[in-house]
Amino acid sequence: MKNLAHYKHLGVIGYPVSHSLSPLIHTTALRRLELPWFYSALPVPPERLKEFTRNLQLFNFSGINVTIPHKVAIIDCLDELDENARRIGAVNTVEVRSDGTLKGYNTDGDGFLDALRRAFHEEAKDKKILFLGAGGAVRGVCHRLLRETPKEVIIANRTASKAESLKEEFSAFCSVPIRCASTHWDELIDIAKEADWIINGTSVGMKPEDPQLLPAEAFLPKHIVVDMIYSPPETKLLKDAGKQGAKTLNGLGMLIHQAAKSFEIWTGEKMPVQEVTDRLKKLW
Ligand code: ATR
Repeated sequence: MKNLAHYKHLGVIGYPVSHSLSPLIHTTALRRLELPWFYSALPVPPERLKEFTRNLQLFNFSGINVTIPHKVAIIDCLDELDENARRIGAVNTVEVRSDGTLKGYNTDGDGFLDALRRAFHEEAKDKKILFLGAGGAVRGVCHRLLRETPKEVIIANRTASKAESLKEEFSAFCSVPIRCASTHWDELIDIAKEADWIINGTSVGMKPEDPQLLPAEAFLPKHIVVDMIYSPPETKLLKDAGKQGAKTLNGLGMLIHQAAKSFEIWTGEKMPVQEVTDRLKKLW
């Protein structure tokens, strides 16, 4: 029998967390590279977050992923924040360093860009990018894309004040024009037609009864349309966009690539992304 004391622990904390695909992604990569680490899904209720985080080193954890509802609350439990995570205001990856201190990162934006580059060999530079939504997911991806100097970023969110505060915060550190738009179709259809990329970062589309954010006529063959949702694999938005000839991508690639960045932070190794993708498509 192997000496389990040599095994390091990784995991994803959330509440609930049983639906997470992260254990499947990371375990596939760890086994493929023959690394003696475990990765598990750990349900941590909000009132236990501080206590759990304080004991990470004691339980031999090298790192954790963080998902809903802890992405913002965990910041108060960390010793250091990577500059991007600080500006985004949310953490999805924590590294437990050898002295026991905890550093937070946000790999969502890198994951998004890697997935998009791999799918379409396209860059954000000089593009007009329309985001639907202004929550945590959009903050991470928008922050990353702004570093690529797109021509313009437009934020359309149901709650206009959230789009406005994102605009104000992010405009303070970059020169890319950011504007907010209404979610009313009359205005949004024209804005969508002007855009090069349309990115849905809302949760709308996960359920069959969800409303439509944009009508089919808003999509054109020149568009790249990305939905950060991966379940269902093809939302109504992606179906409509595809029918109009747009290039489409769901959130699975983003999920795998953000995981690959976390994996590298913890292990120093590259995740075998293609094998992980193949296994996920087969099993899920
Ligand atoms: P996440 O961290 O996954 O981004 P979040 O921060 O709760 O989650 O953000 C969810 C996003 O989906 C928000 O932009 C939200 O819009 P509001 O800011 O107006 O709440 C958007 N959203 C959720 N349900 C929606 C709906 N039925 N119609 C339009 N937007 C919706």
